[in-house]
Amino acid sequence: MKLELRNVSKFFGQKAAVETVSLTLEGPGFVGVIGRSGAGKSTLLRMINRLGDATTGNVMFDGTDVLSLKGREKRQWQTNCAMVFQQFNLVARMDVVSNVLHGLLGQRSTLSSLLNLWSAADIRRALEILERLGIAEQATKRAEALSGGQQQRVAIARALMQDPQIILADEPIASLDPMNAQVVMDALKRIQVEDGRMVVANLHTLDTARRYCDRVIGMRDGRVVFDGRPDQLTTGVARDIYGADASFSESATSTAIEALGDDREYAAAMLDG
Ligand SMILES: Nc1ncnc2c1ncn2[C@@H]1O[C@H](COP(=O)(O)OP(=O)(O)O)[C@@H](O)[C@H]1O
Ligand SMILES: [Mg+2]
Repeated sequence: MKLELRNVSKFFGQKAAVETVSLTLEGPGFVGVIGRSGAGKSTLLRMINRLGDATTGNVMFDGTDVLSLKGREKRQWQTNCAMVFQQFNLVARMDVVSNVLHGLLGQRSTLSSLLNLWSAADIRRALEILERLGIAEQATKRAEALSGGQQQRVAIARALMQDPQIILADEPIASLDPMNAQVVMDALKRIQVEDGRMVVANLHTLDTARRYCDRVIGMRDGRVVFDGRPDQLTTGVARDIYGADASFSESATSTAIEALGDDREYAAAMLDG
């Protein structure tokens, strides 16, 4: 699979949230997008998914001009690049399985969805996905009764229900504690690798990008200022991406996931560059 952004820009009034971004993302892989708040990371993901349309430029996926899709074809595209959000976006009072089945909304008639007329096969698949993510025992609980980490796994299950080639995750762990952040990142990584999907995740911390990504895109003021492998992401480069002054420190952009695992690796990351 090949996702290509060609000179993509998005303006809000006079202000460019994303400015002439060109990127080619090929094949399965885990791509991290990093940068300080306001750099344009969310706007970029939303344009790929067509949640917010680009002002200029092209998005191509395997020869299809994504930005020109309408109606059913546009919905099919949105099914094929499922979104996962920082705040999970579940229906709080609805049970977990139904939340997962909602991943099929783009593919089922409104009426059958409204009446919760899911086929036995759909329900079985939803349960299998929950099982795979280690939360099958939560299936009948209301979403709001779950911990943040569990809720985000439900959101990932809902995305998987769409069987997307691409998963776009906008700060998927920004609301989670380090332990849950690790569980959620591990889940995303596993479905990326095992199923051969592409994950594009906006991440607010360097250590997470280094640990999970095959490729890291650094954004600053709407532009791509870094595009490389995680091992090329030295402190000097990071300083550039974050536009930080002398007070820049890696700990300010750390989730401390690494501290849970390998202390030495974490210490090395802190001293890197
Ligand atoms: N709906 C909007 N209306 C006006 N400005 C917006 C809107 N969405 C984002 N912006 C602006 O675009 C820039 C990039 O925002 P965003 O993509 O959310 O950055 P990030 O996700 O990296 O924090 C910011 O300056 C933000 O204020
Ligand atoms: Mg954002």
